[in-house]
Amino acid sequence: MRRLSTLDELRISRLSLDGTVGLVPTMGYLHEGHLSLIRRARDECNHVVVSIFINPTQFGPKEDLSKYPRDLERDLHLIASLETPSSASEFIVWTPSAESMYPQGYQTWVEVEAMTRPLEGAVRPGHFKGVTTVVAKLFNAVQPHKAYFGQKDAQQVAVIRQMVRDLNFPLGIVVCPTTREADGLAMSSRNIYLNSEQRKAATVLFRSLSAAKELFERGERNAETLRVKMKDVLAGEPLAEVQYVSCTDYDTLEELDEIKGKTLLSMAVFIGKTRLIDNFVLGQNLDGI
Ligand code: PAJ
Repeated sequence: MRRLSTLDELRISRLSLDGTVGLVPTMGYLHEGHLSLIRRARDECNHVVVSIFINPTQFGPKEDLSKYPRDLERDLHLIASLETPSSASEFIVWTPSAESMYPQGYQTWVEVEAMTRPLEGAVRPGHFKGVTTVVAKLFNAVQPHKAYFGQKDAQQVAVIRQMVRDLNFPLGIVVCPTTREADGLAMSSRNIYLNSEQRKAATVLFRSLSAAKELFERGERNAETLRVKMKDVLAGEPLAEVQYVSCTDYDTLEELDEIKGKTLLSMAVFIGKTRLIDNFVLGQNLDGI
């Protein structure tokens, strides 16, 4: 594993890489969800670059950047443990500084429009502008053939795919399934904030999505019926406070009346002070509808 911090170091190393390069962008404090992306990149590409950068521009004024969990030594060990003797090459871990990514006088932004307004965008204004800007900068620096993102952050994936299409980035986006705990809770660095009672309550997101999926599998195609079902299940959990529940088109993120194609069920729910998000994708094989 090679650890690089400056942009110049990264550029020089990049020049020496032959074959395909996979990029896994992260903000660190890695868990099994991140590791599943790194493994997939390792299995599909000749070289893997993992970036660890807590991007200040995607945090809102009320979201505490300084409290974002971090443990670089642990992250480096976890990444090193994924290197197999048969790996075509060593991993590169790139940890740029905030000053190098956003030097004094920085004033250029990448912004995806309509798709960033609903859902997460409605409650986290400016968040996606920060995400698309930093991801565009990571793409420019690393010049990967493929970049790996988790379905866990469904709107992030949709927005980045749109940006890649609109700006003609010459790379493929690989979307990896959400990694879950045994009881269904989606893995997240925020789960550490849950006490044991809240941790039990947090399974309500998965239970609510599963109930709606079951209705869908029994033939229900009315989107509002699925939204009501999800809200009903969430209402049964006293510790849960719903921020949004939605049933949208998978690609455009427009709210649906009737389900016809690939569909995204998604939600944001507070359990105590911890804000959790989760989603299911429906209708990946909608034959016969
Ligand atoms: P971060 O929250 O560190 O997540 C890095 C990647 O891991 C994202 O693509 C995210 O969707 C994926 N991920 C997180 N939890 C997952 C899970 N349970 N299963 C599968 N994948 C999971 O997302 C970001 O960082 C940032 O916004 C970033 C893209 C790095 C830009 O700053």
